[in-house]
Amino acid sequence: MPALTGIRACVFDAYGTVFDFASAAASCRDVLGERAGALTALWRDKQLQYTWLRSLQHRHADLWQITGDSLDYALETLGLADPALRQRLMDLYRTLAVFPEVPETLRRLRAAGIKTAILSNGSPAMLASAVAGNALGALLDAVLSVEDVGVFKPDPRVYQHALDRLGVPAAAVSFQSSNAWDAYAASAFGMRVVWCNRYGQKPERLPGQPDHVVTTLADLPALVGA
Ligand code: LAC
Repeated sequence: MPALTGIRACVFDAYGTVFDFASAAASCRDVLGERAGALTALWRDKQLQYTWLRSLQHRHADLWQITGDSLDYALETLGLADPALRQRLMDLYRTLAVFPEVPETLRRLRAAGIKTAILSNGSPAMLASAVAGNALGALLDAVLSVEDVGVFKPDPRVYQHALDRLGVPAAAVSFQSSNAWDAYAASAFGMRVVWCNRYGQKPERLPGQPDHVVTTLADLPALVGA
């Protein structure tokens, strides 16, 4: 018996789960040196904060704008503001590297008849270029963006959007995210959840409880019987 039974669709967060957001700054080590890690962390933190703050203010902007705004904040904070570096990092963000185990994981799920999808804060254009750049298109049944809902995760309407588009009930969905807050929110919404804790985070003190914790998505097929 697999740990999670009756799963008909596996839905994945994009940034940090399927795509490695650290790969952008890591590709600029010639300029950033040891500061690549600090830039990645501040850029990501600020990017997420802006999604939540804009949602609370009802002043939505898509993740491409927010990614640029948060990069500007991070570069200025670290004394790295430079138009050429900014452009290079934004170009790299469009085609972030995929985590190595992801393509084979998606293949195994689909071979077992389980639908696969991305559900992300990313804009459709951002997601399309990252998916195409890593040749994932043929391995995904759907690439779903919050832009169809007009609000960011963890608004429950975003998780509902995946159910509506895939035509499956919450109990038949396994949602995977490396972002603990996203994993807990999907669980509170009613999905089954595998928290891919790539970054060694501590459990959130928020509603929800992931069903399983893994450190790589390579462990997912066995959990859902694929
Ligand atoms: C996403 C961010 C939250 O892809 O990682 O939705």
